[in-house]
Amino acid sequence: MELRPLPTCLTAMAIAALGLAIASPSFAADVSAGKALYEAKCGGCHSVDANRVGPLHRGVVGRKVASVPDYDYSPALKGVTGTWNAERLDTWLQNPQAVAPGTKMYFSVDDPADRAAIIGYLVSVSAPVKR
Ligand code: HEC
Repeated sequence: MELRPLPTCLTAMAIAALGLAIASPSFAADVSAGKALYEAKCGGCHSVDANRVGPLHRGVVGRKVASVPDYDYSPALKGVTGTWNAERLDTWLQNPQAVAPGTKMYFSVDDPADRAAIIGYLVSVSAPVKR
């Protein structure tokens, strides 16, 4: 399955819509809430700086899908092209099996606010998004 690239302005709008604008005064608070949610929900399988059950997340926003060199991705995820951005992460976290049928990640986050907070945290551990 191919993830189609979106125009940069749409990406920026998606990020803004998710409440992730780095300039926002509440961003720091959102990030700490997102960090707590990340640790609670994702921390069993992922960490920011080391591969565990799942691949490490440092730099994931702006990173090519399935591109951590020493992580053993499923063929399903290796078949997904494109780059992770906030919108794609939101789709992924709703249902990874819909994005990459057969992926090794069986976990989803149903609450949109939780997803936005977690993605905000992932943005914070990634290189600044180019606009
Ligand atoms: C039960 C274990 C598990 C949990 C919990 C989990 N993941 Fe994963 N995740 C994985 C596995 C395994 C993969 C690798 C999938 C593959 O290769 O098909 C993965 C892959 C990913 C990827 C793709 C990374 C890349 O390098 O392309 C992202 C993004 C991701 N997970 C985000 C999250 C987030 C955010 C959470 C918490 C909301 C989370 N995951 C919770 C197991 C998990």
